[in-house]
Amino acid sequence: MPGASANIGVVGLAVMGSNLARNLASREGNTVAIFNRSYEKTETLVSEHPEAGFLPAKTYQEFADSLQKPRTAIIMVKAGRPTDAVIDSLLEVFEPGDIIVDGGNAYFPDTIRREKAVRETGVNFVGAGISGGEEGALTGPSIMPGGSDESWVTLGPILKSIAAVAEGEPCVTHVGHDGAGHFVKMVHNGIEYADMQLIAEAYDLIRRGTGKTPAEIADIFAEWNRGELESYLIEITAEVLRQIDAATGQPLVDVIVDQAGAKGTGAWTVQTALSLGVPVSGIAEATFARSLSSHPEQRAVAAALPGPDDEFTVAPEDVDAFIEDVRLALYASKIVAYSQGFDEIRAGAAEYDWNIDLGAISKIWRGGCIIRAQFLNRIADAYAAEPGLPVLMTAPYFAEALTRGQAAWRRVVVTAAQSGIPAPAFSSSLSYYDGIRADRLPAALVQGQRDFFGAHTYKRIDKDGTFHTQWSGDRTEIEAEDTH
Ligand SMILES: NC(=O)c1ccc[n+]([C@@H]2O[C@H](COP(=O)([O-])OP(=O)(O)OC[C@H]3O[C@@H](n4cnc5c(N)ncnc54)[C@H](OP(=O)(O)O)[C@@H]3O)[C@@H](O)[C@H]2O)c1
Repeated sequence: MPGASANIGVVGLAVMGSNLARNLASREGNTVAIFNRSYEKTETLVSEHPEAGFLPAKTYQEFADSLQKPRTAIIMVKAGRPTDAVIDSLLEVFEPGDIIVDGGNAYFPDTIRREKAVRETGVNFVGAGISGGEEGALTGPSIMPGGSDESWVTLGPILKSIAAVAEGEPCVTHVGHDGAGHFVKMVHNGIEYADMQLIAEAYDLIRRGTGKTPAEIADIFAEWNRGELESYLIEITAEVLRQIDAATGQPLVDVIVDQAGAKGTGAWTVQTALSLGVPVSGIAEATFARSLSSHPEQRAVAAALPGPDDEFTVAPEDVDAFIEDVRLALYASKIVAYSQGFDEIRAGAAEYDWNIDLGAISKIWRGGCIIRAQFLNRIADAYAAEPGLPVLMTAPYFAEALTRGQAAWRRVVVTAAQSGIPAPAFSSSLSYYDGIRADRLPAALVQGQRDFFGAHTYKRIDKDGTFHTQWSGDRTEIEAEDTH
């Protein structure tokens, strides 16, 4: 086809799309066709980056004509209806065998639906989670593509060329079919919520307990970043805490309104976990903590409620030990959050029939994305040693860290409760740990209650079968149909 000289195209040239297009263009062998609904953005990108050699298109037809076959286009537009609108327009000009990639933050059931609909036209559809924000899009994101094996053959080398590199390996893998990539990206974001909340709770406890300034706490986080907690989120926490507001001379963190926003991926992770029956309590608490913070009217009224009588102060001679306790509690809670997140991926893979390699997922999160951390190597090691590991935190490395940290973890949760300092993610992570390792749970009583009011039946520990006690009669037990 005359003029068809781009091997990849990008539709949607706002922050993410333009950076991704520049990243693609900077890699050997790529020629990038670009299209945006309003042409001004296309013109601006071309004029600001002549070095990229972009092939700008004014119409979808021009865009399709400039692409080599099989045509491959990455959509980076607003998630939701705009994505559907772009897919429809591309389908009018693409042919069977071509590939449409949605690199936006789609909800995975939408990706499953789109993949099915697009596949019927003979065009391939790939939902790809892309993490790392605008900087990652430009310099190397972590990429989580779903879609067919056939698409991966063409797409794999292109995505490998632009992904972040961690320890010599590109941070991209073919996650699984249809919505698997966006599912894994969703859980990534959920884990990110938990990790951020845990760090925020650690900061709050240290600040309120020791009276240290944000800049002093920044030094503590910088120190932690040289050890087992080393991660991008710990690193940027130190940067944020050290920042002084130019207008007031105050620490910036003290002039920022304390209401955390959310774009919905944390809620999706929790909603999905609820339907899969997976307890992601750390992610849920982190998501709810953002919701709680964002109700100033309720907080203003509730401020009248009493807290404990005593002021929370750590004695000067105990400050170093307290900070070390908080560090250990943070690490232990973080292990729980990641263990829960990987549990959700495992359950999602079983439910949707995706063959997801959990070790490979931990590896592609080592670079480019927001939760990048040394720690992810330990997760990869755990799954390499035992691919079917049922509970990540029981792997020897994590079990040892939890054993080492548990006394400190308990002290911190007790201190938070006694001092009236909210630490929902620390406490719920500890409760999960104690729940999952418990020999016997009070779920037995819940089953008894359910049988009492709803004849929901129960199992017995000493024999097979399903039973019901005739609570409103003579309270004898009968064998029953299983109505669990
Ligand atoms: N992974 C991350 O860290 C990260 C970060 C940010 C965003 N994202 C995701 O990446 C995607 C792009 O984000 P963004 O912030 O760059 O852009 P955005 O603000 O989400 O979307 C703006 C882009 O969408 C286009 N658009 C909107 N409605 C359209 C329609 N009906 N038909 C065609 N195009 C339409 C706009 O075109 P016009 O210029 O013509 O209006 C513009 O190119 C989103 O899905 C977002 O959720 C990911």
